[in-house]
Amino acid sequence: MITVSIIYHSGTGHTTKMAEAVAKGAGSVADVKVQTIAINGKDIVEGRYKNAAVLEQLDASDAIIFGSPTYMGGPSGQFKCFADATGERWYIGKWKNKVAAGFTVSSGPSGDKLNTLHYFFTLAMQQGMIWIGQSETPMNDKGINRLSSYSGVMAQAGQESPDVAPNAADKLTGEVFGKRVTECTKRWTSGNA
Ligand SMILES: Cc1cc2nc3c(=O)[nH]c(=O)nc-3n(C[C@H](O)[C@H](O)[C@H](O)COP(=O)(O)O)c2cc1C
Repeated sequence: MITVSIIYHSGTGHTTKMAEAVAKGAGSVADVKVQTIAINGKDIVEGRYKNAAVLEQLDASDAIIFGSPTYMGGPSGQFKCFADATGERWYIGKWKNKVAAGFTVSSGPSGDKLNTLHYFFTLAMQQGMIWIGQSETPMNDKGINRLSSYSGVMAQAGQESPDVAPNAADKLTGEVFGKRVTECTKRWTSGNA
């Protein structure tokens, strides 16, 4: 049994929809416990993320998938406060060799989402984690990986409500990605199981 955790922030619900899609894909793999954990702004006190229980849940995970809306061309402030709180883990190499991956949502088709994914990547590399990218070939602008992202998953909110956006193609992209990250984690951890 492996544990895959999805830790994400969502201001208005679009990133939550993608977290659910990624969790669905992860949960389709046998013998996996999937945890979907929202970063709650109330856990940020004077600019510091304070939820020790969440960090301990992540300590006990084999894979950690990061999610955030793209705000002003990067991860949300709430996500960054969470990331800064992982500094103690960096110091002792606590997350070394865990699997990492990421997804982000923004209004525009680009909207500088790549910068958010690359921030997740940098966080993962600082923590000594193993980064899994997106492997789906986009066949057209309506299907899987329609936004042509390889560093991780991108989804688009446009100006729509989270009831309709991200669209079905983006959610399917998230689902397939969750499955891939989980399968890769099983392969990576099989020698230690
Ligand atoms: C403060 C702020 C900054 C934003 N910056 C960007 C941006 O740089 N690029 C973009 O395409 N959309 C941007 N947006 C739109 C959000 O990325 C979009 O609404 C996203 O779906 C929000 O996700 P959420 O519903 O999970 O909070 C921004 C929204 C806010 C509130």
